[in-house]
Amino acid sequence: MSPVENGAYSKVEYWDERFEVEEDYEWLASYAEIRDVLLGILGGLKKILVVGNGTSELALKLAEEGMFEVVASDYSEVVVRKMRQRQPAVAWVTADATKLAEVFAASSFDAIVDKAAMDAVVSDEGDPWAPNEETKKTVAALCAHAKRVLRRDGLLVQVSLQQKHFRQRLMTNDLKLHNVIDLPMGLGYFIYVWRRNNDDDRQLTTSSCPPSSFTYSH
Ligand SMILES: C[S@@+](CC[C@H](N)C(=O)[O-])C[C@H]1O[C@@H](n2cnc3c(N)ncnc32)[C@H](O)[C@@H]1O
Repeated sequence: MSPVENGAYSKVEYWDERFEVEEDYEWLASYAEIRDVLLGILGGLKKILVVGNGTSELALKLAEEGMFEVVASDYSEVVVRKMRQRQPAVAWVTADATKLAEVFAASSFDAIVDKAAMDAVVSDEGDPWAPNEETKKTVAALCAHAKRVLRRDGLLVQVSLQQKHFRQRLMTNDLKLHNVIDLPMGLGYFIYVWRRNNDDDRQLTTSSCPPSSFTYSH
């Protein structure tokens, strides 16, 4: 099934309909193709949230590595139901990547992994040189919610087809670019590694006195 226009990829109705019939589809790259790079980034971390997993093998393969606690998520209830049945060993949760803090507690994860999920989110940006205001707001929400559910110094790892200058100007100061890795496959893909910006936390500890009920997690 192919959408009438590219912007359809940003609509949950499109994905629900697609996942009613689609059993397997791997976007951009297989796990085997990116495994070594991913493990190089995620090595030593424990709690991993995969967003927009779809029918990809990504979450399952990460869980099978045996060193991570993996939560797989997608905003399509249809695919979450399907994958929960197919992969009962993985924890499946319905969650919108732009509203993660409505589902997960603050500082829940060491890393969030997104393979082509934000690519779908920005598919209705219009002119990539001048993305529309709606897309900018949606990406700002994605960054803010990623920051909330990541622990201090936590990572957002994005496997993406979006070119560097377009991706970088959409992201907000909630996350700081740590690294970009070129993937010489397909049309040329990228792995963006963003680190949670902890500047606000530091301000809180140095310049203001938290209330007594305030709990601070390192
Ligand atoms: C291009 S597919 C990528 C699927 C899979 N990650 C892969 O690499 O094969 C985009 C996926 O992101 C999901 N998605 C799109 N927007 C989302 C959002 N705002 N929150 C959560 N999932 C979203 C779609 O339902 C779909 O599963």
